[in-house]
This record gives sequence, C-alpha cells and structure tokens, in this order.
Amino acid sequence: MSDRITAIRARQVLDSRGHPTVEVDVHCGETMGRAIVPSGASTGKHESLELRDGNPDEYAGRGVRKAVANVLETIAPVIIGVSADDQEGIDRTMCELDGTPDKSRLGANAILGVSLACAHAAAAVKRIPLWRHLDRTGQARMPMPMVNLISGGLHAGRHLDMQDFLLLPIGANSYSEALHMTVRVYRALNEVLIGHGYEGVLVGDEGGFGPRLQSNEQAIEMILQAFHRVKLKPGIDVGIALDVASTHFFEGGLYRLGDQLHSSRSLAALLTDWVERYPILSIEDGMAEDDWNGWSMLTEALGKRIQLIGDDLFVTNPLRLAEGVQRGVANGVLVKVNQIGTLSETFAVIAQARQAGYRCVISARSGETEDSTIADLAVAVGMGQIKIGSIARSERLVKYNQLLRIEEQMGPGAPYAKFSV
Ligand code: PGA
Ligand code: ZN
Repeated sequence: MSDRITAIRARQVLDSRGHPTVEVDVHCGETMGRAIVPSGASTGKHESLELRDGNPDEYAGRGVRKAVANVLETIAPVIIGVSADDQEGIDRTMCELDGTPDKSRLGANAILGVSLACAHAAAAVKRIPLWRHLDRTGQARMPMPMVNLISGGLHAGRHLDMQDFLLLPIGANSYSEALHMTVRVYRALNEVLIGHGYEGVLVGDEGGFGPRLQSNEQAIEMILQAFHRVKLKPGIDVGIALDVASTHFFEGGLYRLGDQLHSSRSLAALLTDWVERYPILSIEDGMAEDDWNGWSMLTEALGKRIQLIGDDLFVTNPLRLAEGVQRGVANGVLVKVNQIGTLSETFAVIAQARQAGYRCVISARSGETEDSTIADLAVAVGMGQIKIGSIARSERLVKYNQLLRIEEQMGPGAPYAKFSV
C-alpha cells in the first residue's frame, strides 16, 4: 500500500468548551489519518499563534475558517504527492510556507492539524498502532498519569488562584493500577468535599472538582483527607502536584494570592514551606513566564528536592528551553504539541530536554476533543509522565482509555515509568 498523500480535507469542528477548532483528514488512497487540534485557556505569551477569524458574528470571533482555508489552499497543494511517513520533510515544508517564528501566517492550528494527521495516516498505512510508529528510539513505555483533582484559576471561574491540584499515584506499579488508584482518590475527594458542605459535583474545564474553598491550602487539606479515607499513604502511595499557573495572577511584578501580594522571593518561600509541610512532589509554573529571577530563586530553593516544570515558561519552544537550561532554572518541561505547532519540533524539544537532563510531561490542553494522539505520543517518547486533566469528561477519558488499550498491546509486564524525585 502506498503512503503517498492523495488528498487532504479539513473542517471546523468544536472542542470541549464548544469553541471551534481545526480537524484535518490526510488520505493515502483508501487509508485516512485524522487529527483534531486542542486549545488552551491559560496560554503562555510565547506560544505559537492559534489563528482565529475574529469575526464577531461567528462564534464570538473564535471561528477557525481561515486556518481551515490555509490547510486546503496553501498547505494541501504542496504536500499532496509526498509520503505521509516523511514527517520531518512535511513539517519543515509547512514551517517554510509559513515563514514566521510563531506560525502566525498560516496558524499553528492549521499546521499542527496536518502534522498530526500525517502521522496517523502513516501509521494506518503501515497497519501499526500510532505509538509504535512514533517510537523512534525504542524507548516506549507507559507513563504515570498526573491527574487533576481540584481546579481553580482560569479553568474554574477563579474560585482558587492556583490552577490545578493534582494527584501523583507514585506507588502504582503499572498504568492501570495508577488509574485505579486515581479513581479511588477522586471518589473519596467527592465524599470529603460534600461532607464539608462544598460542591462535590461541579467540575472545571479539565474535569477536576471546582469547589468554592476558602484558600489554596484548603484544597491540599481536602486532598489529604481523601488519601486518608482510602488508606493511601502520602509520599509513599500518593503525592501531590501543583500547577500554580502563576503567570495568571502576576500583576505589576507581584503575585496576588487572595488579598495578599507576594514578591517572587516570598512566593518561593511560601511554596518551599508547603513542600516542607505537604507531600508536594512537583510544581508547575511556580513563577510567571518572564520572571526569570523568580525562577532562579525557586530552583535554588526546590530544584534538588522536587520536580519543577515550566509550562508558560518554556511553551515547548527550543529557544525558551535553551535559555532556561543555560540559566539553570526548572528541571522539567511541560510538552504541549500546539504550543510549538508540529510533531517534529515536539520531538526535537523532547530530545533537547533529555539531553539537558530535564524531565518531560506530555500534556493536554484545557480545550480538548476526542483526539487521543497525545496518549500514543507519551508512550512513544517514553519520558514517563502524562497530564490529561481529571478522570471525568470524555475528552479526557478518551486519552486515559487509549492508554489502557496501549498497555494491553504492550502485553503483560508493559514497561512502566515509576515516578521518583
Ligand atoms: P491550558 O492549561 O491548556 O488552559 O493552557 C493547561 C495548563 O496550564 O497546564
Ligand atoms: Zn500549566
């Protein structure tokens, strides 16, 4: 069967917030690969550009018809006839066609849709699972999920300043065991929240509970009570991760938490105090995207003790990561395919992080769809961690369930990345 691309179709579909996004089908004769592009809400300033139409009469300006037209009119004519397996060639061609550093001419959403759909098409032609097709280094293994339990920030009406309070099921010995542990904790947390008179059913954009708690610390306390309820030992069976997403409460050089204003130094001290008192093993975006000095302070305080991940800081961008490595800040990278805009560049950033001794967490966005590409990607690169959101809402479960299928394909004793700091 030939893997030459014979046709490309693209259309506007809706994501999990009901916002338009780009879907692309890449055909190789009778075979087709399809991908849908995700979309963030708490985006970093340095991300590649997501092209939106800006027409107020259609989807409040959020339409993606221009990006769809760019796929059909500009990209398709150039890559029809090319082998779908030539991922790097296709991605390079699209970057050249675009010609801007942030993919603002064609839109990262147009380019990424084609990039991912080509990978699906190439795997389908070879009749192998996507994760096997993407496993270039023979390092495929199941990742540990980092799972959203309580949501705040821009994903849950700002009931809490911090964005995600997450579970690290560190004691599990396989992916499916980690998932089972997660469900137990999530259910227990629901009971704990209701027991304290909080909303235990309303969930945020990523499926985490969105209660109106008194403080960020109270969210941690609720999670500890949930651990206790299901007899899981903090620091041994389970840990806590935070996505502080501090860029989104950084104003005029200060961090606003509730009615308190913190300097970078005092926020670093606050987070260090929490790490001492709670089983927090990973902190994402503890400082704002351009607060390099704050990042240095935080890394100095905690970089040898826990995982420190840059999301808005690095935006899956090789230049931002190079700067971070050179300054010695953070020790991990959140990897989101649409922040950079092609699969090849995503692989390159992961290789760069590996080289520098930084960890990687493959991550979904708050706006997701039934597309499960990142599940296969996380297995293929073997970096050991994935962040999808919570275990509610089907745009999340489609990835968790795909990982269950992959675990089955890998067979008994599927390699699994156990987390340690
Ligand atoms: P976003 O949030 O997709 O809204 O950017 C996810 C995250 O901050 O990790
Ligand atoms: Zn984040």
